[in-house]
Amino acid sequence: MSGTADAYTIHTLEGGLAALSRDKAALDSIRAAIGRESVVILRDAFPAKLVESAREMLHRWGKTQPLQPPQTILDDNFYTIERGVSPRQKTLHYYHAYNLNRIGKLPGDLREICTRIFEPMRQFYNAYTGYATLPDDYDETGLKLHPQAIHYPAGGGHFAAHIHKKSPQEIGLIVHGTQKGRDYASGSTGFQAMDTIVDTDDLCRPGDMIVFNYGLLHWVTPCDLEKALDPRSLAGRWVFVMPYY
Ligand SMILES: [Fe+2]
Repeated sequence: MSGTADAYTIHTLEGGLAALSRDKAALDSIRAAIGRESVVILRDAFPAKLVESAREMLHRWGKTQPLQPPQTILDDNFYTIERGVSPRQKTLHYYHAYNLNRIGKLPGDLREICTRIFEPMRQFYNAYTGYATLPDDYDETGLKLHPQAIHYPAGGGHFAAHIHKKSPQEIGLIVHGTQKGRDYASGSTGFQAMDTIVDTDDLCRPGDMIVFNYGLLHWVTPCDLEKALDPRSLAGRWVFVMPYY
């Protein structure tokens, strides 16, 4: 660990996320931090350029896709604008979702860049949990990972406070795709950890990955709320996540 505080722990990765999945001692130390409900930041999990290119390519791809209605469930790749109150968490939200349930079916360049992000995430997730999740497919328990890029647009993209059922997900993964102060001025992911608030946008750079105990209360405050919302614009906050259900 290269820097720790009680409510969060920063772990700088030398060889990126792929190398971490083979490092038993590092995985144990992350498990211990998650067990005491510290928010773990994996610094340099991915090259910044990789996640920044991915967000631009996904944004372009989204414009070629039919806009699916909120709460669409499809075992495929699709673009949607989620808004209103989510039926599961009963929480107010507004964001653009690039759902990547079949990365193998994406066009060549996009498939390649999404694989370079979500495949190390999947391997880390398996190494951490001991699960045997598969790329694109349902595993032996009948569940699958749901890779997703989330764009909280400037002009108010947000996700109000909520908690998830801890099992079977165990940990949430959030890869930062944008830089606060450069790509957006306000809006961030927050966690209630150890009775304090951890604001990870003040701690993270593009390519860093947050690992958090899935039972922690968390939220996303509105992105650049004072700006006009342009639903076609790339502007705002971008993250990459991978729920398992
Ligand atoms: Fe969440």
